Amino acid sequence: MRESLLAPPGLKDVIVADTELGDVHGSAGFYHFRQYSAIELAEKRTFEEVWHLMFTGRLPDPGELATFRAEIAARQSIPPEVAAVMPVIAAAGPERATLAGLRTALSLIGAGFPASWGADGATLRENAITIAAVTPPILAALYRIRTGHDVVEPRADLSAAANWLWMLTGTEPTPEHEEAINRYLVCTIDHGFNASTFTARVVASAGADVASAICGAIGTFTGPLHGGAPDRALDALDEIGSPDRVREWVRAKVASGDRIMGFGHAVYRTEDPRARMLRGIGQNLGGPLIDFAVQVEAEVVQALAEFKPGRDLHTNVEFYAGVVMEQCGIPRSMFTPTFAVSRVVGWTAQVLEQSADTKIFRPLARYVGPPVPAPVPPRGR
Ligand SMILES: CC(C)(COP(=O)(O)OP(=O)(O)OC[C@H]1O[C@@H](n2cnc3c(N)ncnc32)[C@H](O)[C@@H]1OP(=O)(O)O)[C@@H](O)C(=O)NCCC(=O)NCCS
Repeated sequence: MRESLLAPPGLKDVIVADTELGDVHGSAGFYHFRQYSAIELAEKRTFEEVWHLMFTGRLPDPGELATFRAEIAARQSIPPEVAAVMPVIAAAGPERATLAGLRTALSLIGAGFPASWGADGATLRENAITIAAVTPPILAALYRIRTGHDVVEPRADLSAAANWLWMLTGTEPTPEHEEAINRYLVCTIDHGFNASTFTARVVASAGADVASAICGAIGTFTGPLHGGAPDRALDALDEIGSPDRVREWVRAKVASGDRIMGFGHAVYRTEDPRARMLRGIGQNLGGPLIDFAVQVEAEVVQALAEFKPGRDLHTNVEFYAGVVMEQCGIPRSMFTPTFAVSRVVGWTAQVLEQSADTKIFRPLARYVGPPVPAPVPPRGR
C-alpha cells in the first residue's frame, strides 16, 4: 500500500498551489489582490483598472487604461451564431437558470479556442479577455429576452459598472448606484481558492481551453453554498418580515439543520470585510431595507452564537450584496449572475496563471467500499 496523506474534508487549510494573484487572511478579516488591499482597491479604483491589475500585475496608467477599455469594448459583441440561439437558451430554464444559459453560450463562443497546453500566451490572454468581456452582455441579454424586453447593447462610453446596470435595465444609472456596483464588482473579483476558482484551475491544469475552465467554474457557482446565496438571503429577509421574528426563525432553521444564507464562511473567522464595506454602501444609499437588514444581522449573529457555539459564524459578503443590489435596482434573479460578472475576471486571471504551470492536479480518494477483490459473481439466470 502506498503511503499517502489523508487531507481534511473539503481540503480545508490545505495549500494546493502557488499564486501571485492574491490571498485571504481568514482570522485577520483581510484579503488582497496582488499586493493591494482588495477593499482599498474597491474604494479607490474602477473595475476595469483592477481587471488590468489582475491580468498584468500592474494598475494601468491613463493611456494603458484607455487601450484596455477599448480592448474590452471590442470583445463585448455577442457573435451572430450565438445571438441566433439566445432566445432558445433563455427559454430553456426557470429564472435561476441564467447561469446555465451563460455556461451554454460561453461553451459555443469557446468552441474554437485552442487547448491551453501548447498555445501561446497572447492567444490565451485574448481568449480570457473575450470570455470575461462578453459575459455581462450575455447575462443581460438572457435576462431581457426572458422577461420579454429588447436586448440593450453595451456602450463603450460607460464604465463597466454603469454598463452592467444599463444593459440590465435600459436606463443610465445614477452616479451613486454606479459607484455602489463598481465597489461590489471590484471586491468580488477574486477570493482565494474557493470552489469555483479551484474548479477552473483543475480544468486548466489538464491543459484545457479557457472556455472549458470557466464553464466548470460556472457550474459550481449554481450551488447555494457558493455563488447562489445573495438572492436567497433576501428571500430570508422577506420570510422573516419583522425583527421580533428573527430569533424564533433562526432557532427553527438551525433545529431543522438548515443554513442561514449570508452567514458563515469557509475561511473567515471574523466579519467578512466585504460585508462591512457593503453594509456601509447600503447605509449610504439608505432606505427601510438596509435598516431592517442591519437589525436582522445583529439578531442572526447573536442567535447563531447561541445555537452554534464556538463556530464563529459571522455575516458574509452575500448578505449585504443582496441588499445593495436590490437598492440599485438589480432584479433578484440577477444577483448571482452579477457576482459572475465580476468573478469571471478572477477566474480567467487564475486560469491564465494555472496555464503556465505544467503540473496536472491529481489527488487520491480513499476507498471505503466493501473489501477487495471480491469474486465477480456469475450472471443470474
Ligand atoms: C459558507 C459555508 C458553506 C462554509 O461552510 P463550512 O466551511 O462547512 O463552515 P464551517 O466549517 O464554519 O461550519 C461549522 C458549523 O457551522 C454551521 N454553519 C455554518 N454556516 C452556517 C449558517 N449559515 N447557518 C447555520 N449554520 C451554519 C455548520 O453547519 C457547521 O455546524 P456543525 O459543526 O454543527 O456541523 C457555510 O457557512 C454556509 O453554508 N453558509 C450559508 C451559505 C452562504 O452564505 N454562502 C455564501 C458564502 S460566501
